[in-house]
Amino acid sequence: MKKQALLQDYNLNGLKLPNRIAMAPMTRSRATNPEKKATADLQGEYYKQRFSAGLLITEGSQVSEEAVGYVNTPGIYSKEQVEGWKEVTQMVHEANGRIFIQLWHVGRMSHPDFHNGKKPLSASAINPNSQSYTPDGFKDTVTPKEMSLEDIKRTIKDFANAGKNAMDAGFDGVEIHSSNGYLFHQFFNATSNTREDEYGGSIEKRAKFLFDVIDAMKEVMPEQKIGLRLNPSLHGIFGMEMDEETIPTFDYIVSKLNNYDLAYLHLSEPFNDVSEVPYAIEEIAKHYRPLYKGTLMINAGFDQEKGNKVIEDGDADLVAYGKPYISNPDLVERFEKGVELSKWDEDTFYVPGKEGYLDYETKART
Ligand SMILES: Cc1cc2nc3c(=O)[nH]c(=O)nc-3n(C[C@H](O)[C@H](O)[C@H](O)COP(=O)(O)O)c2cc1C
Repeated sequence: MKKQALLQDYNLNGLKLPNRIAMAPMTRSRATNPEKKATADLQGEYYKQRFSAGLLITEGSQVSEEAVGYVNTPGIYSKEQVEGWKEVTQMVHEANGRIFIQLWHVGRMSHPDFHNGKKPLSASAINPNSQSYTPDGFKDTVTPKEMSLEDIKRTIKDFANAGKNAMDAGFDGVEIHSSNGYLFHQFFNATSNTREDEYGGSIEKRAKFLFDVIDAMKEVMPEQKIGLRLNPSLHGIFGMEMDEETIPTFDYIVSKLNNYDLAYLHLSEPFNDVSEVPYAIEEIAKHYRPLYKGTLMINAGFDQEKGNKVIEDGDADLVAYGKPYISNPDLVERFEKGVELSKWDEDTFYVPGKEGYLDYETKART
């Protein structure tokens, strides 16, 4: 019998994946220790349970203290944090798994409570009119500080430092979180970036921050181990608004990524119904597959059938599953054996401790 497309192996720029199934990056807010580090008993066990994924991508992990915007998310900037992640990658590798870390800067999707009362940073001083999940619960976002050139330079360095730390911690690679309304996305869209210097004012200039970061990172780690994530048709969520230049901006970025030999490009299909949004495109994989020459990972709303189809149709190489991975640590084995999926519990997505985190069954694993 022919193997399902999702279960065929794949060479990810030198890293051998036993299947096409990735675990999408998901914030779980379990780093409750003062160092904001991942630990063996929580994150280590969690990722180890999911070792059979072709590729695990960790939760968003802040590249600096000022990059944070959600409670109890782990970092990848301090020595203690690198030591914590080292234990996690060791556990995953001992179980025969592969793991990338997602590098995160939330930009304006934060709150002064995280920054000793100081404003969070963004491309421009424009409030996303959204909410930040602070230690005291959800709070309204504020008008951020427009980043100075100094701030931009420092942040580029923070990403390079995080890339180097990720290598020291034993990760197989990194995913830059240039998606979902966070800092990079705030630079891309004209509605959140009204700068008039070299980082704003045209498509090329709004994309420059991302390419500066990639260029800095590939000085300290192999570019073959750098992936990145984009969500071109994000509209009305996380403070993002599309306009007529949004899709042309993403087209430019994706085409320019062909000049690099990256691990992958991770794209999301629209998170909500964008059929009435004038500037949005509804079929992201179909639109971008012809534009991108490297490995394309697709996400959002896939089940087993749709995942097999998108690969068979040649519209993507890998499929990332988010919520199904929360409640099905053995998702690969369930797809293999046709075992019904368990339902996830939204109430325990972001609560501390093991509940709703380490207690989902591995029914299909023998
Ligand atoms: C609890 C939760 C946390 C998430 N955290 C992140 C994150 O840290 N980084 C990111 O890029 N996406 C994050 N996402 C989005 C997922 O990666 C994914 O895009 C989304 O869940 C849609 O895929 P799905 O339909 O397979 O769940 C999160 C989603 C959920 C449900």
